[in-house]
Amino acid sequence: MLTIAILVLCLICASQNGVLGSERCRRATSTCILTPETTEGPYSWNTTLMRQNISEDRLGIPFRLYATVTNINTCEPIVNAAIEIWHCDALGIYSHFIQASSNTQNPKSDNSTYLRGMQLTNASGVATFDTIYPGWYTGRATHIHVRVHLNGVYVTSTGYYSDGSLVKTGQLFFNDSLTDLVAQQSPYSNHTITRTLNSVDTIYQSSSITLMNIQYVNSTSGISSGFITSVTLGVSGSSNVSASTTTTTTTASTSSTVVSSSATKISVTTISLHCAYLYLQILPIFYVVFSAFLSR
Ligand SMILES: *[C@@H]1O[C@H](CO)[C@@H](O)[C@H](O)[C@H]1NC(C)=O
Ligand SMILES: *[C@@H]1O[C@H](CO)[C@@H](O)[C@H](O)[C@H]1NC(C)=O
Ligand SMILES: *[C@@H]1O[C@H](CO)[C@@H](O)[C@H](O)[C@H]1NC(C)=O
Ligand SMILES: *[C@@H]1O[C@H](CO)[C@@H](O)[C@H](O)[C@H]1NC(C)=O
Ligand SMILES: *[C@@H]1O[C@H](CO)[C@@H](O)[C@H](O)[C@H]1NC(C)=O
Ligand SMILES: *[C@@H]1O[C@H](CO)[C@@H](O)[C@H](O)[C@H]1NC(C)=O
Ligand SMILES: *[C@@H]1O[C@H](CO)[C@@H](O)[C@H](O)[C@H]1NC(C)=O
Ligand SMILES: *[C@@H]1O[C@H](CO)[C@@H](O)[C@H](O)[C@H]1NC(C)=O
Repeated sequence: MLTIAILVLCLICASQNGVLGSERCRRATSTCILTPETTEGPYSWNTTLMRQNISEDRLGIPFRLYATVTNINTCEPIVNAAIEIWHCDALGIYSHFIQASSNTQNPKSDNSTYLRGMQLTNASGVATFDTIYPGWYTGRATHIHVRVHLNGVYVTSTGYYSDGSLVKTGQLFFNDSLTDLVAQQSPYSNHTITRTLNSVDTIYQSSSITLMNIQYVNSTSGISSGFITSVTLGVSGSSNVSASTTTTTTTASTSSTVVSSSATKISVTTISLHCAYLYLQILPIFYVVFSAFLSR
């Protein structure tokens, strides 16, 4: 009898955990950027190098980005999610599309790779990128493209990740007051086209995008020290919530490594705590039902 009772309790608990998770998430996300879905645009490229520093030879003000991937239903960080970013250089040019983005109407790609890269989220769900503050090009406000993939394969011998499922495509936007300051610095100051502001950028205007909260690395030395920011990318769809899920932090071993078949990390402790909490909540109901059963 007791076994059945515990079983019933745990079933109820399991079904309730999602509800509690959403509530926790709703509170937590009020302080973070949950980038809405936006177009990936014409300059995406599917083979992206796994690396933290994507600057290569591009000159500009150093920019460090911490990007956290969370499950929007549970608000738990997702480990081993692959975050990919790409953006233009100070003069508005994208690698792989140098000619196209110079507005020469030539879509032919080149093999340059600057300002593109991918990172797997660590055990805290965070990926770190070092790049430069992007420039701008005709018709678009300054932005960084971002995509998030889950459950892919990272082939360490080639440095490429593939076969993941694409769960988020977004764009990160900058405060125009900050870009005004950046625009006065070399090499951005060499760029003479009229800058498109967020207020007239169709993508920025078409969805409820929050600007990144960007800080100086050193507030005393200001812009020369570079910038630092953190964003949160909420994803849904691939949550694989199970108490038996112990996510392994996959690292390079042999030629090919499957990156965590279930990337969502829900700690057993969290579930147990919820279980205990719910147990206390439903105990009176259970008592009534149980005593009715006994008195039959
Ligand atoms: C890149 O990957 C995305 C999602 O996996 C897919 O929709 C798109 O067609 C791919 N593009 C190319 C050029 O392979
Ligand atoms: C990134 O790489 C570039 C070029 O190799 C280098 O100049 C820059 O200092 C590096 N950035 C960081 C934060 O290490
Ligand atoms: C890019 O690299 C590929 C494969 O190495 C090569 O076939 C192609 O000619 C290169 N394209 C350019 C524009 O350099
Ligand atoms: C993940 O990376 C962030 C940013 O570098 C760092 O603060 C955090 O401690 C890392 N988490 C783990 C578990 O290493
Ligand atoms: C942009 O930054 C300026 C100066 O720090 C600030 O006054 C303004 O409120 C910011 N705009 C937005 C939309 O956050
Ligand atoms: C900026 O423009 C000046 C004058 O045309 C040129 O000498 C300089 O090399 C340019 N700097 C960069 C970083 O492109
Ligand atoms: C910040 O910049 C100031 C002025 O350049 C310098 O004195 C100080 O040591 C810097 N702080 C850090 C933590 O690097
Ligand atoms: C959850 O993980 C299990 C075992 O790793 C896998 O078989 C299943 O397909 C996954 N489900 C989803 C929805 O990803």
